[in-house]
Amino acid sequence: VRITFLGHSCFLLKSDSYSLLIDPFIDDNPLARQKSDRVQADYILVSHGHDDHIQDVTRIAERCGSTVIALFELVNYLAGFGVKTLGLNIGGGQQLPFGWVRAVQALHSSSVLEQSLGNPCGFLIQIEGKLIYHAGDTGLFGDMELLPKLYGQIDLAMLPIGDRYTMGPKEAAYAAKLIRPKLVVPMHYNTFPAIKQDPRQFKAMLDDLDIDCRVLSVDETLEIQPGMKM
Ligand code: NI
Ligand code: MN
Repeated sequence: VRITFLGHSCFLLKSDSYSLLIDPFIDDNPLARQKSDRVQADYILVSHGHDDHIQDVTRIAERCGSTVIALFELVNYLAGFGVKTLGLNIGGGQQLPFGWVRAVQALHSSSVLEQSLGNPCGFLIQIEGKLIYHAGDTGLFGDMELLPKLYGQIDLAMLPIGDRYTMGPKEAAYAAKLIRPKLVVPMHYNTFPAIKQDPRQFKAMLDDLDIDCRVLSVDETLEIQPGMKM
């Protein structure tokens, strides 16, 4: 599976047959280079309703005929725009043609404009036999350690490090210690001044924990191959 960082918390996951887009916020993100009129997605996973995760969802879903996957309240809101949706709730999963997806806890909030839209979530995704965790926007919580216990070692964990609205580097490093994934990619930092961080400092914290970390620049692609030592 190939994972491309599109900026902020947006990632594109591509297997041989399917493409999954997570938290698209690209048209109004000055750091993003790919724009919503070009990105292809069979599925769009949305962790919560905040602007910086949802902004390009309907535009891309309409053009690509994508299925939008999110929690129940958010899916109901998005269905109002006529896009195809698949609703989940925390702890629940669904088999899909590419593998499976499961909504997991995130400690944050979820709203669109002033309307509260239920809870936020993170996603566990299995694709091409690989297990990927996108934490969404979240604070640290101890039950992150249940994820590998239940589902096996996570190949790649995307963790927010921006602080202020989510975990900062210290909390995200502790999260990595709880999850012990093969590889961590930091996200949700440097998009705005309020979430400015030095990802190299975060990487150094993970080096001390003997956990691999890769800082992706925008549009950089990472490939996870079966049996590959990362
Ligand atoms: Ni948020
Ligand atoms: Mn956010």
